[in-house]
Amino acid sequence: MLLGSLGIVTLSFCLIVYTVMSVTASFLVERRMRENLALVDEFALEAASYLKNADANGLYELCLSRAEAENARFLILSPGGTVWIDTLAGLSGVRLGHAEVVDIAQGGATLSYGLHNVSEKGALPSWVGYYTAAVAYDADMVGIAMMSASVQDVFDQLAQIQQSLFLGFLLVLLLVSGLTFWFSSLITSPINALNDVMQQAVRQGFSVRFSVKGNDEVAQLGQTFNAMSEKLQNMDKMRNDFISNASHELKTPLSAMKILIESLLSTKELDEAMTRDFLGDINREIDRLNLIVQDLLTLVRFDGKTMPLKKELLSLGELAYDMVQRLSPIAQRAGIDVDVELDELCYVEGDPSRLAQVVYNLVDNAIKYTPKGGRVLVQVGRSGQRVLLKVQDTGIGIPESAISHIFDRFYRVDKARSRATGGTGLGLSIVQNIVRVHDGDIEVQSKDGEGTCFTVYLPAAPDPLDDFDEPDALAADNKEEPHEEP
Ligand SMILES: Nc1ncnc2c1ncn2[C@@H]1O[C@H](COP(=O)(O)OP(=O)(O)O)[C@@H](O)[C@H]1O
Ligand SMILES: [Mg+2]
Repeated sequence: MLLGSLGIVTLSFCLIVYTVMSVTASFLVERRMRENLALVDEFALEAASYLKNADANGLYELCLSRAEAENARFLILSPGGTVWIDTLAGLSGVRLGHAEVVDIAQGGATLSYGLHNVSEKGALPSWVGYYTAAVAYDADMVGIAMMSASVQDVFDQLAQIQQSLFLGFLLVLLLVSGLTFWFSSLITSPINALNDVMQQAVRQGFSVRFSVKGNDEVAQLGQTFNAMSEKLQNMDKMRNDFISNASHELKTPLSAMKILIESLLSTKELDEAMTRDFLGDINREIDRLNLIVQDLLTLVRFDGKTMPLKKELLSLGELAYDMVQRLSPIAQRAGIDVDVELDELCYVEGDPSRLAQVVYNLVDNAIKYTPKGGRVLVQVGRSGQRVLLKVQDTGIGIPESAISHIFDRFYRVDKARSRATGGTGLGLSIVQNIVRVHDGDIEVQSKDGEGTCFTVYLPAAPDPLDDFDEPDALAADNKEEPHEEP
């Protein structure tokens, strides 16, 4: 920034100085030339009568008085260019060959002038103007009037102007440097501050925050950094919670197994029935461990976004029907009625095994958390552009304070009850993840003690039968099928 602005200032200064100096120089020099030409013209006019009358003394007096008045050298030359009178005497009798003289003597001009540097070699320049005018009398040229006057003062004046311009330039340069430095530090200091905070975050973790001031770009960047840090901090906390919860969950069956095995080992005389009993318990604990590890693996794959989805067009109604069939022995044992209502053909684009897991987990929960004699209703229908799956029960319900947590990993309203029924507290979390990767939504309504209703919304896929131009009767036939009550 500094270099750029200094470059611009210098460049524009050079341009300004060049223009100002050339305009001023030509104005001042030309004005002096015009003034002096008028003088020499007037001198020639006065000299004419003296020349005609051959009044050498009078002419000399005139030259001297003029020389004194104008502080210049005055000369009278013959029409051919030979010096007759010179107020400084040095050139008397010499024939001058300067262009200004030749212009008049041979060129027929009446006025002429020129600039000459008359300094010695190596000395400071000394500029002198030569001005000549024809002395005429009755249309005859009777001589040449000449004046030589220094114009060095004009050049000195120009040099002075140049000097003050240069001083001004230095001042502006200083001012611009100061301003640029101040301005750039105004921009860079918040960036440096943000950078410091970021480096601190790298070294000490994401608990540091950038104190946001104003609403400029850096402030916005700071806000984004703060939001990112918060997210990372939350993720870190979630990961820690997850690991500690998972370890705890895995420890429980392991401890149970250890107790069972230790008591088997410490018993002197093992009878067969007791051994079988213990081994059966151990086997159940292993099943439980397996279940937890399987659920954990599923969730970890969702987190790492490595869950492979084999999406295909499927009828959610048929899928729900199959899952309910599979769960009906459990429902029967628990003394619960499971009803299914499939409104119409509801197609979705999805992974059948994952969506089956959604139905299974929701219906399994409904059965688990509904007391004997209760009722579970599974519905599949359409709602605009979406297909919905509703699992309603008349069970124990979920307390209002717990509803926001039921999708959290390992969260269970009643740990003892959940474990007794083989739950891991991971089911709903898995359901939520599956619904999410299918671009769907899940909602829950529940009243403590009265029952719960989970609703899953999935984007509807077009009915595959619409693609075919089938006879109406056949199409109607096909559509009818899933309506049949199972
Ligand atoms: N239909 C329901 N009725 C009452 N409570 C439920 C229902 N479904 C889930 N819950 C509550 O939500 C918790 C989390 O469910 P989930 O993640 O499936 O874990 P679990 O392994 O315990 O079934 C359950 O422990 C239970 O407290
Ligand atoms: Mg469950």
